[in-house]
Amino acid sequence: MVQFFLDTASVSEIEEFVRWGVADGVTTNQKIFLSEGSVDFKKRILRICDIVDGPVSVETTRSEVKDLLREAREYASWHKSVVVKVAMYGDGRGLEVVRQLTKEKIKTNMTVMMTFNQLVLAAKAGATYASLFFNRSKEAGENPLQIIKDYVALAKDGGVRAKLIVGSIRTPEDVAQAVAAGAHIITVPAKILREMPANRRTDETIAEFDKAWTEFLDIQKRGKAQV
Ligand code: E4P
Repeated sequence: MVQFFLDTASVSEIEEFVRWGVADGVTTNQKIFLSEGSVDFKKRILRICDIVDGPVSVETTRSEVKDLLREAREYASWHKSVVVKVAMYGDGRGLEVVRQLTKEKIKTNMTVMMTFNQLVLAAKAGATYASLFFNRSKEAGENPLQIIKDYVALAKDGGVRAKLIVGSIRTPEDVAQAVAAGAHIITVPAKILREMPANRRTDETIAEFDKAWTEFLDIQKRGKAQV
């Protein structure tokens, strides 16, 4: 079954979707934390790890390999649920970092990827998760649905370890397409997840059934109920 990660660092949003039973993990990034405003970064990550029973991705922010490694080791030491996000830098730096962290048994989520080749490299370097940015990949002229299908086929045949996370989701239709294409995990913003249970015809049908039930109760009240 496909897994849903929550693309947010908001405690109330995470609690909401844990209550729904649809939160398998959480992903964060620098923009997500900016939208949280003035929060203590480490405390918030630890709080999230307590709320959700699953991996919590925390993104590295430095640029040199040695600094990225130091930062990654620190995040990983915070909690067993932490997965360190490392960007796919164009010069291969991120791959080097992922390779080293893998040797140290630190879980990684290689991120900011737009192409099939990037996913394959991340998997070869040993990443635990490989994140494809669905809409940004489209903006880059790629076909993310085909990339998902190709990667999932490769993962089945080639024993590839890295699970595919599809992020950069902007509509419920994106979720449906990514699930149908076989994505292992979709990371979904709260706004989109909240839209997913809603359907106009469902609402109309519920109203129709409620009305029928009110009428039925009324008939019961007025006459003698037959068995
Ligand atoms: C997921 O890990 C990404 O950080 C996120 O989905 C990016 O989405 P955006 O394209 O909306 O910034």
